[in-house]
Amino acid sequence: MSKSVTVVDHPLVQHKLTLMRENETPSSVFRQLLREITLLLAYEITREMPLSQRSIRTPLEEMQAPSLAGRNMALVSILRAGNGMLDGVLELVPQARVGFVGLYRDEATLQPVQYYFKVPSALEERLVIVVDPMLATGNSSAAAVDLLKGAGARNIRFLCLLAAPEGIERMTTAHPDVPIVTAAVDRQLSDKGYILPGLGDAGDRMFGTR
Ligand code: URA
Repeated sequence: MSKSVTVVDHPLVQHKLTLMRENETPSSVFRQLLREITLLLAYEITREMPLSQRSIRTPLEEMQAPSLAGRNMALVSILRAGNGMLDGVLELVPQARVGFVGLYRDEATLQPVQYYFKVPSALEERLVIVVDPMLATGNSSAAAVDLLKGAGARNIRFLCLLAAPEGIERMTTAHPDVPIVTAAVDRQLSDKGYILPGLGDAGDRMFGTR
């Protein structure tokens, strides 16, 4: 496994992921589990956020205490499934600014085409965390990161729930500077681009549209 890919093998993450994979899990439970796992994954992906010391007063005395330094983080959802991961990260980092990238696949060229792009200002000064539960082909993730780099982002991390080896290869080739954090790396992509064994279409499962 590339050094830029971290698989969070915490037992709570793995247990909740199993519940999410099960075909019978209803949308309401699926969404709740995604929020909970995302919170745990976010703990890992924010591990290297910079700190500075500031002077505070406890009830007993003054001290120099660590607090987050620099601009607030930018959290960027790849529409639509990425939205299911926003609340988990925001619970941990409520001051994060939120952006959205919308991409669809052109059926003729099979390439991702942008239809929406709204991100926080001063991306170049922020840690940018891109969320999308399924890193499948990696095409839309790589395209989203291209757009964010074009908008100035320099410190980007990618947070997903499940990754296919093909998607990891695509992302680490296109963007070797972008660390990936995931709960699991599954076996392969199907010929229709689904992750196997996977959990199906994450957007459909969270929004009840299948
Ligand atoms: N997107 C999904 O929602 N599921 C997959 O398996 C692949 C891409």
